[in-house]
Amino acid sequence: MGVDSVPTNETSVAVAEPAAPAAPAAKTPAKPAGKPPAVVVESTPDPPVNKMRRRIVWASIAGFLTTCFLMFVRFFLPRSITEPSSTFKIGFPGDYALGVDTKWQQQYRIWVDKTSDRLFVIYARCTHLGCTPDWKSSENKFKCPCHGSGYDSEGINFEGPAPRPMDRAHVELDPEGQIVVDISRLFQKPKGETGHFDDPGASIPL
Ligand code: FES
Repeated sequence: MGVDSVPTNETSVAVAEPAAPAAPAAKTPAKPAGKPPAVVVESTPDPPVNKMRRRIVWASIAGFLTTCFLMFVRFFLPRSITEPSSTFKIGFPGDYALGVDTKWQQQYRIWVDKTSDRLFVIYARCTHLGCTPDWKSSENKFKCPCHGSGYDSEGINFEGPAPRPMDRAHVELDPEGQIVVDISRLFQKPKGETGHFDDPGASIPL
């Protein structure tokens, strides 16, 4: 019985101590008494379709901006980065008959001129102001349409304002015997001077 009485006392103390914290526990539910209970909304992950749409939109925007940037950069670049080569081959000397051949005029702005002892290439530019003369085979001469300068069949000026004969391009034979023309190396014959028409490279001896 003595043992029973001890637990009785301990129980009474244990009941008395939790009485104090019981008060706040009673207050907490009292506050939301008149309000609806909070609703907890759980976010759901994006479906794969939305992710794919987002990627497509961003990829489109990135592509558009990249294109705009490239166009912007292109605007400041020269239109032609590579110029046509000034050196080219025009076949073999045997491919040409005596006289003036105009088949390369459009492509290279030259005429091939073959005489009995040499072959040379005239650069098709009037020495007055740079127009391209016409070859008049019936008159055996070149005639400039701009101001009327006339040149004989070898490009030597004889009428009009042209100050000198038309220039000749550098020519040589490659190891196969083909004619190689270089229009960046021109030979001139200024008026009243010996000029350079007899220099090596100004013609190919036949
Ligand atoms: S440009 Fe040829 S005559 Fe003037």
